[in-house]
Amino acid sequence: MTSNLFQSYALNNSINLNNRILMAPLTRCMADDDLVPTQTMTEYYGRRAEAGLIISEAVLIRPDGQGYPNTPGLFNAAQINGWLKVTDAVHSNGGKIFAQLWHTGRVAHPHFFGGSDVIAPSALAVDGSVPRMRELTYQVPKAASAADITQLIKDYSQAAANAIEAGFDGVEIHGANGYLIDQFLHHDSNRRSDQYGGSAENMSRFALAVVDAVTDRIGKNKTALRISPGAYVNIEADSRDRDVFDYLLAELKLRDLAFLHIGIFDDSMQFDYLGGSVSSYVRARYNKTLVGVGSYTAETASAAINENKFDLIAIGRPFIANPDYVSRVRQGSELQPYSDEMLGSLV
Ligand SMILES: Cc1cc2nc3c(=O)[nH]c(=O)nc-3n(C[C@H](O)[C@H](O)[C@H](O)COP(=O)(O)O)c2cc1C
Repeated sequence: MTSNLFQSYALNNSINLNNRILMAPLTRCMADDDLVPTQTMTEYYGRRAEAGLIISEAVLIRPDGQGYPNTPGLFNAAQINGWLKVTDAVHSNGGKIFAQLWHTGRVAHPHFFGGSDVIAPSALAVDGSVPRMRELTYQVPKAASAADITQLIKDYSQAAANAIEAGFDGVEIHGANGYLIDQFLHHDSNRRSDQYGGSAENMSRFALAVVDAVTDRIGKNKTALRISPGAYVNIEADSRDRDVFDYLLAELKLRDLAFLHIGIFDDSMQFDYLGGSVSSYVRARYNKTLVGVGSYTAETASAAINENKFDLIAIGRPFIANPDYVSRVRQGSELQPYSDEMLGSLV
């Protein structure tokens, strides 16, 4: 019984979704060398328009945010035009699509943008190297100056305006998974002693400034945010992070965003310092539209929505394996199992 997944849902009474199944953001590294979305990407997204809402793969707000090959951008006219074709395809097939706005912070690599600084909250490198590009070890970033931070906030807001110009229905700010915004929200990666570090309020300042700049530019009904209170990738957990997210969630509640989305691969993961799973921690502090994610099936997601653990479900890997995921679930047909080899091509 998954019928609740097929109820429509209105984000802030303004954007109507045909069902409660979102396609999670999935980086595929298939943009062309100018980081412009291709025709193949247009077809890939167009085929998945039955989702209540597609969240695009993470999209770079500016060149120095890049940490992986061929990830698309939204910072020039060619990229905006490329995305226009994608959003047209999704809309003609009856779907909706948000752009996920991304800067990788210290996970960026100058190999991709011609040698300038890697920028992050603090001059602390992440261990390791770019996936499948072993020779590209991560560098010690430059700690962002106050002027750098002001510019970054402007660049998020400009990318949001570009997303609307490119026909997106809204944006999800990528504040999760160990990238730039998340780096400000965790003690492991933020050791600043200015107004952007040290206390819960200071550590939340950058995330909230980006949210406010984007909502000022395109409206709160078109603005969403993804967060990872539980550190699980590229950041070490620190029990003091909980205070930061307690503060952040209280502030976010006042902002009436289109939705808040959890960033995690497996929501059954328990975090001692959060007192349980990420979704249970967030739900206890955030009673507005919440998107759950992380190794759910249609059945477990449907049950979680029934129990009010969250309102909408984002599905990731199964959507890679099944372009027609929504139809298959509706009809009760078998799903193609996901495997990592599927990442080699866009089907
Ligand atoms: C290949 C791949 C690429 C991903 N890319 C992104 C991304 O661009 N942005 C993001 O926030 N999460 C990304 N994720 C995480 C997913 O959005 C999702 O949270 C995760 O896959 C768990 O959901 P699932 O169990 O339904 O796959 C990615 C996951 C995978 C497997």
